[in-house]
Amino acid sequence: MSGFLDGKTIVIMGVANKRSIAWGCTQAILKQGAQIVLTYQNDRIKKSLERFVPENADLVECDVSDDENIKQAFEKIGEKYHQIDGVIHAIAYADKETLTSGLVNTSRDGYDLAQNISAYSLIAVSRYAQPILSNPGSILTLTYFGSTRAIPNYNMMGVAKAALESSVRYLASDLGEKGIRVNAISAGAVKTLAVTGIKHHSELLKESESRTVDQKSVTTSEIGNVAAFLMSDLSTGMTGDIVYVDKGVHLI
Ligand SMILES: NC(=O)c1ccc[n+]([C@@H]2O[C@H](COP(=O)([O-])OP(=O)(O)OC[C@H]3O[C@@H](n4cnc5c(N)ncnc54)[C@H](O)[C@@H]3O)[C@@H](O)[C@H]2O)c1
Repeated sequence: MSGFLDGKTIVIMGVANKRSIAWGCTQAILKQGAQIVLTYQNDRIKKSLERFVPENADLVECDVSDDENIKQAFEKIGEKYHQIDGVIHAIAYADKETLTSGLVNTSRDGYDLAQNISAYSLIAVSRYAQPILSNPGSILTLTYFGSTRAIPNYNMMGVAKAALESSVRYLASDLGEKGIRVNAISAGAVKTLAVTGIKHHSELLKESESRTVDQKSVTTSEIGNVAAFLMSDLSTGMTGDIVYVDKGVHLI
């Protein structure tokens, strides 16, 4: 297969199932000719992945709640590939109570957990990926515009996404000298496992669809295509950016 990612190796973190945004990214990236490495959170997710990922995809365990685990994952990837060209971080988590009870009721532990998994993990991933990232190299994360607007029921996740987007800008500045770019895609709402944790998620999805320019939700494959572009040398002029891939929802 030949494409604009020919000869590149991309690490994709956060495929849980075929609905995952990271899976849309994986398919788009494979289409453009890259070798992929998928990281998974635990054995349960690994079993799910083994049912549908291509046989030549490498699977590496990486629970981002543990720095040592992130370090080992990138060391393992480095031993096999020596160098990688990009990392996609498509990971977020908040416990059910934190997600459903309104920001004003967020406990200190719930706040810490959401920030830890959804925002701090990008910093740790960037740190441990950096030694094996090529120049030019690319890091990408996934965000949502609940970071800048008070979207009903998005609650604590909006606060974590605001921290994530700020981290994108500071990491881009830190890593720029090494030729590593850091960007985020602000994706429109799509029905994935993560979204079903949000209270009244079907209303959020319906509302979001009705606010697109053509009343059709963005797809994970449309998000994946932009991710492939951001992993490629076609985007070497972009860093520290939040790129909307939401079919215009943020315009209105
Ligand atoms: N679905 C949407 O509408 C939407 C919109 C904008 C942004 N996003 C963001 O896209 C990203 C991917 O989410 P998704 O919607 O594809 O849902 P998803 O449930 O398919 O993916 C979330 C992933 O996070 C992983 N994860 C959670 N805790 C982890 C940990 N401790 N270690 C390693 N991995 C962990 C899960 O295993 C899962 O693979 C998230 O950052 C989400 O906030 C989603």
